[in-house]
Amino acid sequence: MNTAEQVASKRNAGYHAAGTVEDGMVVGLGTGSTVFFAMERLAERIARDGLRIAGVPTSYQAAIRARQYGIPLTSLDEHPVLDIAIDGADQVDPGLTLIKGRGAALLREKCVCDAARKVLIVVDPTKMVDTLDALVPVEVLPFASAAVFRRLALLGAGPVIRDGVKKDGPVVTDNGNFILDCDFGAIADPRDLEAAIAAIPGALECGLFTAYGEKITVIVGEEKGCRVVSL
Ligand code: A5P
Repeated sequence: MNTAEQVASKRNAGYHAAGTVEDGMVVGLGTGSTVFFAMERLAERIARDGLRIAGVPTSYQAAIRARQYGIPLTSLDEHPVLDIAIDGADQVDPGLTLIKGRGAALLREKCVCDAARKVLIVVDPTKMVDTLDALVPVEVLPFASAAVFRRLALLGAGPVIRDGVKKDGPVVTDNGNFILDCDFGAIADPRDLEAAIAAIPGALECGLFTAYGEKITVIVGEEKGCRVVSL
């Protein structure tokens, strides 16, 4: 549950990120409640100032919201390199390694993060941690889910298949796959862990983002204003 303070923080982060977008940019649009505020401000800038941008959505949720806001959409096919991406995160450590995927959009989010020249991560202060220890979601090919489950268990994950809300049975992602939520506890070496998960056939992507610290700027919204963090 978001407190009023958290909502204000998310709004400040989202609005700040949207304020940095320049005319003519192609913008990756992340998924989740904080990015909504960035889209809200982008929509205002489009309607009021005639800002011209095109967005690449990372999920059906992002695409639907962007259409509601009148943000023109394009695709990664049309724009394999993006000027900027704006996205949220579940946790951020001091090296700007992220855990993402609470909303099961991690696979497309990582594709968009990789394609973007610059990435703005918008969070409230509760997301900033010294050591990553949140659940790491892994998107898995349904065909291989039992085998991937076994391999993740051997890595010490304690995997749990994510069930739907208002849907019986597993969450089916926007890409037609399942999600295994993995509890690794405090993660000593996120880069090694990401590589170990990537080596499992059928594990399509995980929510650890360890390779992008150099191009990430984290915008930590606060009740009043923002704190901007980069390496
Ligand atoms: C979507 O799958 C996630 O990666 C979100 O981007 C992340 O959970 C942040 O969401 P909130 O901004 O709603 O916290």
